[in-house]
Parts: sequence; C-alpha cells; structure tokens
Amino acid sequence: MRDHVGRGAAPAKAILLGEHAVVYGWPAIAVPLPQLRAKAEARFDARFEGVAVEAAARFGGVSVQREPDQPLAKAALLALEAVSGNPSHVVVHVESTIPIAAGLGSGAAVSAAIMRAIADLFGSPLPEARLSALVYEIEKIHHGTPSGIDNTVVVYGLPVYFRKGAEPEFLQPAAPLTLLVADTGVASATREAVAAVRQARERDPQAVEACMARIGGLAEQGRAALEGGDLPRLGRLMDEDHGALVELGVSSPELDALVAAAREAGALGAKLTGAGRGGHAIALADAEAAAPVAAALTAAGARRVTTCRIAAGQRTAAAPRADHSPGRL
Ligand code: PMV
Repeated sequence: MRDHVGRGAAPAKAILLGEHAVVYGWPAIAVPLPQLRAKAEARFDARFEGVAVEAAARFGGVSVQREPDQPLAKAALLALEAVSGNPSHVVVHVESTIPIAAGLGSGAAVSAAIMRAIADLFGSPLPEARLSALVYEIEKIHHGTPSGIDNTVVVYGLPVYFRKGAEPEFLQPAAPLTLLVADTGVASATREAVAAVRQARERDPQAVEACMARIGGLAEQGRAALEGGDLPRLGRLMDEDHGALVELGVSSPELDALVAAAREAGALGAKLTGAGRGGHAIALADAEAAAPVAAALTAAGARRVTTCRIAAGQRTAAAPRADHSPGRL
C-alpha cells in the first residue's frame, strides 16, 4: 500500500463563445482540449512530515503546511479532506503542458489533476460533480468571481453549454472540430481582465449589458450550430463574438493580429478565448485549411500553435460517462 501511486489528469479548455458575459449569467460554450493536459502523481513518502506539492519550476513547489492558502496547497488539502485522507507523508508531483495565465484553464486543470491523484492514492475516486465543486473553490483564489465554466469543462472533459447557477448541459457536436490554438506569448491574469470588465459595466451599464446580451445570443446560436454540424455558421458566430469582446475592451493588438491572419488564411472563424488581453486566440478551420491557417498564425506572431481536434459527440447528454481515467505522467 505505501508504495502505491495515485494518478490524476485533466485537459485544458477553450471557450468557443460567451466568455466574460458568462460571469453575469449569460450562456457560454466551451470544449476540452485533450492535446494539452495537466497530470499529477501522488505518493506516500516518509521524508515529508506533512503534504508537499512538487511542480515544474514555472509553478514552484509548495509545502502545504507552510503555505496553506496557496492554490496548489489548497487543492491538495481540499482533496485530502474530501477523501478523509491523513494530511501527512504525502507528496504530489504535477506536470502540465497547458500555458499559464493564457485563457486555457490551466489553474482548473492543475487543481483537478492534483485532486484526482490524491483521491486515487486513497482509493476513493471523487464523482465529477463533487470534484468540479472543489475545483471551483480553487478558481475563486485565482479569479475572484469565476463563472464556474472552467472547472466544469476540465473536470467532465466534455463540450458544455454552461449557464452560471444551472446544471451544465453536455453537448454532442454533430461534426468534428479542428481548432488552431495560438499563443500570443503575453501573460494575462483572468482576475484583472474580469475586474476591468466589471469597471466598464459600472461606468456604462446599458452599453455593456447590451453587448453581453448579444454575446449570450451568439452562444445560444452557437449551440444550435455545433449540434447541427454547421461549422461555417459556428465560425461566423465566433467572428461576431470577437467583435463584441473587442467592444468590451478585452482584446489586444496581438490577439487582433492573430484573428485577422487566421481569417485571411481561410479559417471559418477566429476569436480570442478566455479572459483576453493576451493569452490565446482560437481559429476554427476545415481539416484542409488547418495547415495554412496554422502557418499564417505563426507568421502573424504566434509563439506556439496547437492543432486540437474535438470529436463529434459519442455520449448522451443525459449521462456523461464518468471519466476517471487518470492518465500517466
Ligand atoms: O482565462 P480563463 O481560462 O481563466 O477563462 C476566463 C473566462 C471568463 O469568462 C473571462 C471568466 C469566467 O470565470 O468565466
């Protein structure tokens, strides 16, 4: 038992339509990006008095006892509490290929991977709804007032139609999607972007609320396009959504340049994704256009372009398959 290893993993996510407005109760659509993942391994280790989370240099390691409010530590502690695990002699090692502060849900995926690894170590897997609620607690540290969309999509690992306060509805895309996920290389804290939108809304409530209502409408139509397999329509909705996000003030010259380059190279649509002001742009492309669009994104300044494929739906919306598959480091 003592040399047992607990494993956990979770994917990145991209918001297809609806970021920012989702914080105020409008619907949004997000998909998992399984090509980018966080993975964790948990072990019993007598060398650690308490609990330690070791991470690659970019996250930094953390002693849970010394910094209990640090997000990685808090994730470990919440999971231990949830599985009634003794918080001593436990070490968790985390790795992730998801860029940080870049709109792809890194914080939620890393938290979910840590929690799954600990639950696996103690032989007590956490049901998705419970895990998602626990990850939401960590999202509050990262974001302040998160909508809950990130924890939902990374924990369930399914395309989701999300509305704050309502049960998530899992979507089955009628056609597979090819998304080019392009990194501006500019770090952007979600908390700050969300705060800037809140200030804009306080200054001019009518204009911002109207913009958000439009974004919510695009998400609603996007759901129909996704479920009907109408990718050209989905692309047009993404273009419109980017325009609304520019109006909200969360785009940047780097994001606008990537979006314009993707469209010119034949993408069906392109937009910023996540909090904006840096981070990533996404472009939807036909399978044949994927390579030229990726090349255009690189030429327009993307630091990295990841091609992500989202499969057409195989699961029923009423019964999402529990995905406890922990993955391997
Ligand atoms: O930048 P990310 O990956 O944390 O996504 C943020 C999405 C927002 O809608 C801006 C905030 C939220 O809580 O939904």
